[in-house]
Amino acid sequence: MSISDIDVPQILPSQPHIDRPHGAVGFEKPHTQQAEVGSQHFLSTYPTMPAIDPTTQSNYREFTVHQGAIHMDIDFDARVVHGKVTFTLEGANATQVVLDTSYITIHEVTVNGTKAEYTLHPRKEPLGSKLEITLPQPIEGKFDVTITYDTTEQTTALQFLDKEVTDGKVAPYLFSQCEAIHARSMVPCFDTPSVKCPYKLSATSPYKVLMSGRPLSQEGNTYYFDQPVPIPLYLITVASGDITGLPIGPRSTVYSEPVKVKDAQWEFEADMENFLQIAEKLVFAYEWGTYDALVLPASFPYGGMENPNMTFLTPTLICKDRLCVGVVAHELAHSWLGNLVTLALWSHFWLNEGWTVYLERRIIEAIAVAEAKQKGLPNPEEYGAQMRLFSAIIGWTSLEGVIANMGADNRYTKLYLDLTPDDDPDDAFSQVPYEKGLSLLVHLEQKLGGKTVFDPFIPHYFKTFRYKLLDTDEFLDCLYKFFADKKDILDLIDWKTWLHTTGLPPKPAFDTTLADQCYQLVDKWSKANGDYTQFTQDDLLLFSSNQVVVWLDTMLQHKWDQATLAAIDKAYPTLGTSSNYEIVFRYYKLQVAGGVPEYCQKMAEWLGTVGRMKFVRPLYQVLAKVDRDLAVKYFKKWQDSYHPICRSLVVKDLGL
Ligand code: BES
Ligand code: ZN
Repeated sequence: MSISDIDVPQILPSQPHIDRPHGAVGFEKPHTQQAEVGSQHFLSTYPTMPAIDPTTQSNYREFTVHQGAIHMDIDFDARVVHGKVTFTLEGANATQVVLDTSYITIHEVTVNGTKAEYTLHPRKEPLGSKLEITLPQPIEGKFDVTITYDTTEQTTALQFLDKEVTDGKVAPYLFSQCEAIHARSMVPCFDTPSVKCPYKLSATSPYKVLMSGRPLSQEGNTYYFDQPVPIPLYLITVASGDITGLPIGPRSTVYSEPVKVKDAQWEFEADMENFLQIAEKLVFAYEWGTYDALVLPASFPYGGMENPNMTFLTPTLICKDRLCVGVVAHELAHSWLGNLVTLALWSHFWLNEGWTVYLERRIIEAIAVAEAKQKGLPNPEEYGAQMRLFSAIIGWTSLEGVIANMGADNRYTKLYLDLTPDDDPDDAFSQVPYEKGLSLLVHLEQKLGGKTVFDPFIPHYFKTFRYKLLDTDEFLDCLYKFFADKKDILDLIDWKTWLHTTGLPPKPAFDTTLADQCYQLVDKWSKANGDYTQFTQDDLLLFSSNQVVVWLDTMLQHKWDQATLAAIDKAYPTLGTSSNYEIVFRYYKLQVAGGVPEYCQKMAEWLGTVGRMKFVRPLYQVLAKVDRDLAVKYFKKWQDSYHPICRSLVVKDLGL
């Protein structure tokens, strides 16, 4: 397919999020329906939801942003980006444009081509330094603001890697990670999800460049991209290095360093197009043209990041059994949720992630149904439901663990986060918005009458809010309007507890058919009483990778003495060397939590080979509990290889 074949959607320029004076989201009268929504449970109890984004210092509410154009000149020697950004704005008689920046050096600011005065204010943690640009006179209509700038070594969105630490060791590498509020360290901007606009993107580099848009052309060392769909700044991305691609579907290419591109292709090619088609059935046609993915070097701090047209993936997904593809389904689902329909404020993060996990698991369920049909299994729908349930059990266990770790009264365990200007969204990040959010949506699906009743709401919801922003109240408003005939059922939902109360939500009643075998094996270990000869490799032979994960998760809920841990290691010698990182991670955790010195050492070494925070952060935490000196020593050894976001969070976790 060529670029000209791709349908470019009709787009409206972004409007700052709906004006609701004094921030009473959901209290203003235009939302009459909303005022009725569970008024006794929800709205009247929480009069403080802000309408203004507390995580930006910019004056984004004074402007409509029509267009953004970002150019980056990548300087691998100096490890900086020389950047130039232009925003086309429109505001009624504004006198100033105030943008977010973080660790950026400003060279020049122009307004409609004429130099303008500016002040770069001192840093205010965690938000950075605001850049105040004085407009020569109040401007009616559209105007362009252009900033020429450099990033610095402290820039948190970017990681430069020397060629020695890449897989192929051929060229240095650069990649960005902007969510949640790191975009401001890569480009001066209105760094709030509340501002969405289309972008022209380009970058100059001696090595191949990928960005979050549709590739247009390459002229010399400069690569051009177009992002016609209005997107928030946190979705802007860049990567450059020795990168090559192979097809994984009719509209999809996987990119990575050449040494692992074939493995990456094998891992994803069987599922990619199926995922797309299933998601399209659940929601509506994929509207971004191509869906490509880049498998990054080990230090990429997340499992995946939904950069439009170019999902970023951790290399830990290449597990050689195609069983970690759930992350791809997840990032793909963000193409609708987050990227088309965007949260207005980070406090509503659950709307992005809870919904995305919901769609991810519906996709995996549909794949399982199709597979079961292909294999001629007796009850394919039932099989699919079991698979979905199994993921729910894994998710629930992780939610229990995470909430126990954070403390059941930790305010970040609420679904609505209520962030203030002192909160760093990175600190608020946890599994809670994912799994508690998912639990709420599954609860809704069940209460409303199951999938067949709930499913028509999905495209309705996405069509209502595509290209726009929304918050939790607008979601509720939409839900109540759509299910007007089921208001009684919705009113019975305890919104206050679900959205505004810390700790675990009510535990769903799980059918544990598939998990029971895992629980039985845990039981056998707890009753072993020194008789370890009964355990052999065969115990796990018929387990799927997910069942091994559930078995390990359940084992992790008990304390084991060193004799038992040694027996486990003897009976199942391949767990620690599995190519599936989800298994290795849990197995190390089990052995290290029991204080097995050999595993403390092995794991400390392993921590130098992964950068995905899901693994790195908990493993340093368990290690520090049994051997703090070793944890600190190895963190100091490996810290330079971690992404700046990961590094700073482990520093906080270890109290360094
Ligand atoms: N958008 C997130 C990653 C993210 C969240 C980055 C918040 C920065 C701040 C991405 O879609 C995600 O959720 N990734 C998960 C994948 C998993 C839930 C399948 C991850 O990284 O583990
Ligand atoms: Zn996500």
